[in-house]
Amino acid sequence: MGITAMIRPTFHMSGIKKENGERMDNKFKKTILCIGAGYVGGPTMAMIAHKCPQYKVNVVDINPERIDQWNSDNLPIYEPGLHEIVVSARGINLFFSTDVEKGIKESDIIFVSVNTPTKTFGVGAGMAADLQYWEKTARQIRKYSDSPKIIVEKSTLPVKTAQAMERILTAKGKSVHFEVLSNPEFLAEGTAIKDLETPDRILVGSNETPEGLKAREELVKIYAEWIPRDRIVTSNIWSSELSKLVANAFLAQRISSVNAISRLCEKTDADINEVSYAIGMDSRIGNKFLNASVGFGGSCFQKDILNLVYLCRGYGLTEVADYWESVVRINDHQKESFVLNMLTAMFNTLAEKRICLLGFAFKADTGDTRETPALYIAKQLLEENAELVISDPKALENAKKDLKGVNGKITYLEDPYEAASGSHAVAIVTEWEEYRNLNYDKIYSSMQKPAFLFDGRNVVDHEKLYQIGFNVYPIGKPALTHF
Ligand SMILES: NC(=O)c1ccc[n+]([C@@H]2O[C@H](COP(=O)([O-])OP(=O)(O)OC[C@H]3O[C@@H](n4cnc5c(N)ncnc54)[C@H](O)[C@@H]3O)[C@@H](O)[C@H]2O)c1
Repeated sequence: MGITAMIRPTFHMSGIKKENGERMDNKFKKTILCIGAGYVGGPTMAMIAHKCPQYKVNVVDINPERIDQWNSDNLPIYEPGLHEIVVSARGINLFFSTDVEKGIKESDIIFVSVNTPTKTFGVGAGMAADLQYWEKTARQIRKYSDSPKIIVEKSTLPVKTAQAMERILTAKGKSVHFEVLSNPEFLAEGTAIKDLETPDRILVGSNETPEGLKAREELVKIYAEWIPRDRIVTSNIWSSELSKLVANAFLAQRISSVNAISRLCEKTDADINEVSYAIGMDSRIGNKFLNASVGFGGSCFQKDILNLVYLCRGYGLTEVADYWESVVRINDHQKESFVLNMLTAMFNTLAEKRICLLGFAFKADTGDTRETPALYIAKQLLEENAELVISDPKALENAKKDLKGVNGKITYLEDPYEAASGSHAVAIVTEWEEYRNLNYDKIYSSMQKPAFLFDGRNVVDHEKLYQIGFNVYPIGKPALTHF
């Protein structure tokens, strides 16, 4: 079913509506709270509210600007289909607020969806998960709770975090019962609404005690409102926590594997698309996540692998840690190679050359630029004294923030034709659909000659662009040049 065609399920409530549109709490079956209104908390709760009108869903965040945006028409994140889902439930059973205390007091079930970035200081800096936001949340829950609650770990956390959560919540002096569940989120940005509506699976981990199993069933019941039971997997809590890290490690590993082979293709005249196609037809391998590119980005893959590596090292598993760390090393290598390739192709100097980056988001259909390869590329090109023009349909505001204070000449233009005009080279860094079908004749004629095109996502017809006159440098295939 198309996202825009989604119909809110009917729920017959004798519901008394307050004047502001909010239903009286006693008309809802349960009250859910989500702490953290980010890329995960916002869309996930919007979907639960949309599918389960019998639950009241409150979403709180310490960032008032973000909450204001969730309450406006200008949502804080771009995600296809998100706006419709939010509008369908907001003010009815979905509420965004900064009042964490009230939210905790009112709730029966609390999802914790705060950020867990890589630690930047002290022991484990650059590797371990920074759990300060998560721990502050745990302490707030403990402080303001005066009734039993189910606490759901939605954030991605190191395995065994639930134990720490329980210790904080149940430390001496608190008699309220908390049951901690792990319910990692597998949505991908850019397809979040589709992933939430028809997920491959939902994973719910719990303690295997009578209370744990009861709480697990409570959460399963919510998802079962729209997801077939056989897609809702239950497990012990540690397997659930670990599965999220492992899923991201395996996905990133596929990208690094295909990218590593793309480098060999460039040396041997093999074509990575042909190799990927051939190996992907093996049903044991499968054809997903086999596109060679400038490298993976996003807030999760790198941080979660590093988190896994750090855990392995902590348990003395040096070889295992080294194995997974190499996935990140290959990714760094891929970004470095892309820039080096640009430099060597353009006669070993980029100084004062105008270079247009098409795309800045870490992937298509999102405005998110966290860990985007484009940032590394932009900084390296500026180091070479190139002049940058950055274009992206959704990520320009984030790009400006990311590059604030970085020395060099940077222009931001949404229109790709304006951005490419007068440039010596165009580099496609994000696989936005619109970049496949731009009028490259028009772009070519507006550029400096010789005109270079570096396709960091292998999205354009290389032969066609070569025929137009471009010198074309794909990933993992021979360059097509007129020299
Ligand atoms: N982004 C993804 O695609 C994705 C997918 C699956 C899982 N995850 C995981 O989900 C978690 C959240 O990721 P995200 O991308 O939504 O992060 P985010 O940074 O977009 O959102 C986190 C939000 O939590 C808020 N916050 C922090 N501390 C708080 C507190 N004490 N009280 C209230 N609000 C607080 C922040 O202000 C922020 O708005 C992370 O652990 C991440 O690894 C992310």
